[in-house]
Amino acid sequence: SKRVAILISGGGSNMVRLVESMTGDHPARPVLVASNDPGAGGLAKAAAMGVPTAAVDHRPFGKDRAAFEHELSRALDAARPDIICLAGFMRVLTAPFVERWQGRMLNIHPSLLPKYTGLHTHARAIEAGDSHAGCTVHLVTPVLDDGPILGQARVPVLPGDTPDTLAARVLVQEHRLYPAVLRRFAAGDEDILHLQ
Ligand code: GAR
Repeated sequence: SKRVAILISGGGSNMVRLVESMTGDHPARPVLVASNDPGAGGLAKAAAMGVPTAAVDHRPFGKDRAAFEHELSRALDAARPDIICLAGFMRVLTAPFVERWQGRMLNIHPSLLPKYTGLHTHARAIEAGDSHAGCTVHLVTPVLDDGPILGQARVPVLPGDTPDTLAARVLVQEHRLYPAVLRRFAAGDEDILHLQ
């Protein structure tokens, strides 16, 4: 089966759903959860699920992204992943790092791409008066939050929504979408999945 490494920066709720999904006849299995933040809550959750973990603190490297990625690559290479899933990984990756994994690295982003790349997606959707928001899983290319779309799920924006209430509604769909896309991708299917 395909070996999956998951990169996180925080609580790791998407990572938990991905790990939980890889059971039974699933075409992939988790081999590593790594974080740029040694304090990320998701690391303990991964360990509790029996998944090997690694922490590569980005802070000692300052602005030297390549040096940070060199250390991150050491941890990744040791796990020999076939697929890397970014799941709330909040560091921008350089082109050389991305290119090394291109076609094998997925990301989940909390907007209906191509709308609202970058940060504060929910506040921007509300501010724009959008009727719908959602999330996107895409292949990672050197351009931030760009790259071929593998799946999307939509939710309504409701009257009175705040960025937090909308984020919670979108996160429910992230937890459905990412495992569904990973299962298809690991089986070799790169068609776009539209979840209702
Ligand atoms: C998720 O909503 C994910 O889409 C978002 O961070 C959250 C992580 O939550 N990712 C980004 O904003 C990437 N730029 P989690 O740690 O509970 O999975």
